[in-house]
Amino acid sequence: MFDPAPKDAPATGFQTMARVVPYLWPPGEAWVKRRVVGALLLLVMAKIVSVSTPAIYKQAVDALAGESPDTGTLLGLAAVGLTIAYGVARLMTVAFQEMRDAVFVRVGQRALRQLALETFTHIHRLSLRYHITRKTGGLSRIIERGVKGVDFLLRFMLLSIGPLILELSMVSIIFALVFGWQYAAVVVVVISIYVAFTFKVTEWRVAIRREMNAQDTDANQKAIDSLLNYETVKYFNAEAMEAQRYDNAMQRYEVAAVKTGLSLAFLNLGQAFLITTGLVIVMVMAARGVQAGQLTVGDFVMVNAYMIQITMPLNFLGTVYREIRQALVDMGEMFGLLGQPAEVTDKPGAPDLAVRQGEVTFDAVRFDYDPTRPILKGVSFTVAPGQRVALVGPSGSGKSTIGRLLFRFYDVTSGAIRIDGQDLRDVTQTSIHGQIGVVPQDTVLFNDTVYYNIAYGRAGATREEVEAAAKAARIHDFIMSLPEGYETTVGERGLKLSGGEKQRVGIARTLLKNPPILILDEATSALDTQTERDIQDSLLLMGKGRSVITIAHRLSTIADADQIIVLEAGEIVEQGTHEALLANGGRYAAMWARQSAEEEEEAA
Ligand SMILES: Nc1ncnc2c1ncn2[C@@H]1O[C@H](COP(=O)(O)OP(=O)(O)OP(=O)(O)O)[C@@H](O)[C@H]1O
Ligand SMILES: [Mg+2]
Repeated sequence: MFDPAPKDAPATGFQTMARVVPYLWPPGEAWVKRRVVGALLLLVMAKIVSVSTPAIYKQAVDALAGESPDTGTLLGLAAVGLTIAYGVARLMTVAFQEMRDAVFVRVGQRALRQLALETFTHIHRLSLRYHITRKTGGLSRIIERGVKGVDFLLRFMLLSIGPLILELSMVSIIFALVFGWQYAAVVVVVISIYVAFTFKVTEWRVAIRREMNAQDTDANQKAIDSLLNYETVKYFNAEAMEAQRYDNAMQRYEVAAVKTGLSLAFLNLGQAFLITTGLVIVMVMAARGVQAGQLTVGDFVMVNAYMIQITMPLNFLGTVYREIRQALVDMGEMFGLLGQPAEVTDKPGAPDLAVRQGEVTFDAVRFDYDPTRPILKGVSFTVAPGQRVALVGPSGSGKSTIGRLLFRFYDVTSGAIRIDGQDLRDVTQTSIHGQIGVVPQDTVLFNDTVYYNIAYGRAGATREEVEAAAKAARIHDFIMSLPEGYETTVGERGLKLSGGEKQRVGIARTLLKNPPILILDEATSALDTQTERDIQDSLLLMGKGRSVITIAHRLSTIADADQIIVLEAGEIVEQGTHEALLANGGRYAAMWARQSAEEEEEAA
């Protein structure tokens, strides 16, 4: 089921770059390829023009110095003409560059969107287990940084590193041809040292940067977690402790950030030293050439112009390499996430689940979230079509787990779960999810309007259907009493509603979904007895003709179930109707006696 690859292993630089290529050369999408080729052509044109500018400049200087072959009457005219040509060439360089960017931008943005979408979809495909373990804030930052990384990589590889390499090669060739191999050799050696130095130092800085990233994520996570737990923090008077925790995380970030800053200064200084040395060596060589009469003043000026021209993008190389290296780290994380195998997967060619009657069978089901701690230890039961089965038992006995397994959030460790004889592992997850309605123990809502949250139950539901569901869930009147009615926003995770209101919104949207199999996990636990009784009626009505699994603490709400299963520490200890279990005088009877006594006490 699992890939042999280690979890979340960040991909290497080359693997990462290779992952981006298909987005720039997608099969069957000619326009993308056309644009890529167009951008490359424009890139080459820009460089050819830009490399010819210092040569024109030299001609102008020589014309002025009177050393050009066409000395004489035309002298003034030639110098002016060359200067204008120089200006035109400079302008054309910029024009070609901008055209190249304009042609490429659509390709780049499209790649970004696709990658972001792919990662987002994949994260939704990952198991609940993964989501519980991973931190949501961290996940969204990984996508954000990864996509930004791809943006950087595309921009800098194609629009900066590519042109730079092209320009360096052209200049080296011109130096070798015009001035002699010694000039080209100096350029090549200096630039090689420069690049090696830059890469080496940057490698070291990436490690520091990674540490900084980790601390940043950590501090951010702590802040979010603390703010989400706003009420809990107040209950326990823990503001000072929370601030301390946050500050500790920020302090580690500070240390890493300072290190990053210092190492940057070191890198910049080293780069400036190397480049200036190279520049001075080449210019001294040219100066001596002029003194010896081998070169013209124009040549001396041209050497300088070329050196300055390659120095500027080289200065930039430090930043570019840093960004690319960083981009690779961030992208590696994102691709690592994309490579994370989904724990629950559809078999190839799996058919959809076909619910005919809705018989649910648990057959010797064993399950654990963690191999060291078994949760279900061989649970077998059957929900006959249209039956209402209640699961009761102490907290932590595995009731909600049974619901999660039936919904196939996880696959069973051994044994099998079947719906109408079809093993859940042999059918598609979407079809299972479409046939089962769940009112979870704690309903979480989208930070949107009440209407949106109820209508979420079924795409395309009409306003009447939404309101009917709200009425059946006994929440319509409450919603209408709100100043903004159905358009009231519920706050993050639905926090602006009370527990009972949230639960009723949850019930309403499941009523709207109207599935043949229902799981009610303490669906009414947050309600007062009267409201609970009211909703019980509509739940009962909804359950007509469907198979329903009800999980409940308050036994009075499930006393009329067709079958009651008492679960304890992952095992079924009793099973039968209310009357049978009472007559049995076992655990259920004891629980019933205790709860009845409590209720009487309350009544009195
Ligand atoms: N994601 C998880 N990872 C590890 N252990 C888990 C996870 N979810 C639940 N458990 C453990 O599994 C056991 C059964 O949990 P479950 O939620 O099924 O209990 P429950 O019977 O629904 O309890 P309650 O009545 O309190 O809702 C618990 O001991 C719990 O600690
Ligand atoms: Mg539970």
